Amino acid sequence: MSEPITVGSIDDIEEGEAQVVEAEQTGTGEAIAVFHAEDGNFYALDDNCTHETASLGDGWVEGTEVECPVHSAKFCLLSGEALCMPATIAARTHKVEVVDDQVLLYPGMGAAG
Ligand code: FES
Repeated sequence: MSEPITVGSIDDIEEGEAQVVEAEQTGTGEAIAVFHAEDGNFYALDDNCTHETASLGDGWVEGTEVECPVHSAKFCLLSGEALCMPATIAARTHKVEVVDDQVLLYPGMGAAG
């Protein structure tokens, strides 16, 4: 089981925003975007869109979905599922926990696991 990374306090990521943890830190070989969704919870997906090259952390959060800033595919923040074209491949999820107002990311551990 991987050790969590402290992304910051819950106040560091505004609702509807994301913070990207760079690949050098995640240890998974990929950057990970940690989102503060509009349901008040935090979720994490691989930052790079599964369609081409784009930072999902730069996308637009709506409810519990994020829209890619390049070609507007949408992904479910809970499951990573690609919800509309042009993306057809799910984004990898990562577990996020909030402990004592700190946002903890578990790279490589699926959100459901
Ligand atoms: S790069 Fe994200 S939809 Fe094309």
